[in-house]
Amino acid sequence: MKLQQSNIEFYQEHGYLIVEDVFSSDEIDALSIETETLLKNPNDALVHEQDQHTVRSINGPHFVSQTMNQLMRTPKILEPTKQLLDGDVYLHQYKINTKRAFDGDVWEWHSDYWFWHKEDGMPEPEALTAVIFLDDVNEFNGPMCLIPKSQNYRLSDELHSRPYGAQDGGENWQITTAKELKYKLSREFLAQMINTYGIKSAQGKKGSVLFFHSNLLHSSSYNSSPWDRRGIFISYNRVSNCLLEMPSPRPEFLASRNFTPLI
Ligand code: SIN
Ligand code: MN
Repeated sequence: MKLQQSNIEFYQEHGYLIVEDVFSSDEIDALSIETETLLKNPNDALVHEQDQHTVRSINGPHFVSQTMNQLMRTPKILEPTKQLLDGDVYLHQYKINTKRAFDGDVWEWHSDYWFWHKEDGMPEPEALTAVIFLDDVNEFNGPMCLIPKSQNYRLSDELHSRPYGAQDGGENWQITTAKELKYKLSREFLAQMINTYGIKSAQGKKGSVLFFHSNLLHSSSYNSSPWDRRGIFISYNRVSNCLLEMPSPRPEFLASRNFTPLI
């Protein structure tokens, strides 16, 4: 799939792009079945909600599933990603967020790049995430909320309110993906950004794909509906922007150090 120039310009300006009907309903059914199968095989890379039993994220599904491994190479995602990042890319992170009916919990406001920079040594925000919607996403099942144009804003330690440091080290990776996030943006800063740029609710039918910039501020709320909001999150980084050495890196299933370009 190739994007039109107008799509690329929309992404560059707003920091996101939603493309509908990228995957057929048969393809989504197959990916859904694979997701549910993966959920039945617990491993160290699974993250749970605070109730301790509902799965929140399946990290690194490409290591254990041929289907998920092939998906990260599909031209439906890879071609637009290369257009949007303007160069060769490799896989940085891969996860499935399940946001289950009634139990799926909040993701606090954050920029992915801030985590990837601080935790993984990513030099510049030259990465993006493609989210494949496995379910219809509506206003009730915890859609992702985006602050358009926020990708252009350089973050700093001062804009974060939670003192962090005690939980440093790749072995403490859970706090970088849990409900209470390690890097918590100050409310004053968020209010200023939202009052300036507004909030876009990223809704769409299953089979749609949301591409969003690695520095775009985003969050999502509790799923108060009887409908799951499952999404496959595939994050790509430009090969020219590969990770620097870190003293205590996060596990490979959260930050890949295999910088081989995907073709
Ligand atoms: C994320 O920020 O990584 C996930 C957000 C969501 O699943 O709503
Ligand atoms: Mn995120």
